[in-house]
Amino acid sequence: MAERIQKLIAQAGLASRRQAEIWIEEGRVLLNGDPAKLGDRADVAIDQIKINGKNLAPAQEKVTVLLNKPRGYVSTLKDPEGRKLVTDLLGDLPQRLFPVGRLDYNTEGLLLLTNDGELAQQVSHPRHHIEKTYLVKVHGLLTGKMVKRLERGLVLEDGKTAPAKVDKIRTTGSSCWFELTIHEGKNRQVRRMCETLGLTVVRLKRIRLDFLDLKDVMTGSYRRLSAGEIKQLKINK
Ligand code: URA
Repeated sequence: MAERIQKLIAQAGLASRRQAEIWIEEGRVLLNGDPAKLGDRADVAIDQIKINGKNLAPAQEKVTVLLNKPRGYVSTLKDPEGRKLVTDLLGDLPQRLFPVGRLDYNTEGLLLLTNDGELAQQVSHPRHHIEKTYLVKVHGLLTGKMVKRLERGLVLEDGKTAPAKVDKIRTTGSSCWFELTIHEGKNRQVRRMCETLGLTVVRLKRIRLDFLDLKDVMTGSYRRLSAGEIKQLKINK
């Protein structure tokens, strides 16, 4: 169905209608290759609309991507300190995606971004107990006693953590690497769990979320989840 172009831009979540009108007036919106005029109507299923050089996707298209986040990016949509945003890594994806949960500025690894509210809700709801595995490097040695405390759950200022799994412990000099699997999402949880044990985290990377891992996704790049993966993420709950 044909709609006014400013309405389509607003529906896609790219800007308010007023802002979209300004873009049209400024000649930044192309309709089938020609500058759009205020009042033009278009059908996203038929017409090609470009805004600032990027294609406008149909409003209803749901997209979920798996990003391998590098250190030094915030996983919020804005940053008052002007630091780099994870969404800066999505290149020319026309949809506006939001991160599902958070990774700290200096945490690396697997982060989902989506415009599918249902999927975001399913993945982040604590009731669904989605497992997340982190590769952790700490200064200091992870003793057997510490492993037991992690596995049993330990007390943080906002409550006791649920039992965690600890795997693949490797000691290199005065540091230790291990994999920690948790299904909660308390703020800075892994770092705080380690701090409680007297260990300082020097590297933290999320390497798995449920059945998803970072295979074939280099640091700083992303891939779209397939329809099958999205279905599985929703069904598993
Ligand atoms: N736990 C943390 O401490 N930080 C993260 O970014 C994710 C989990």
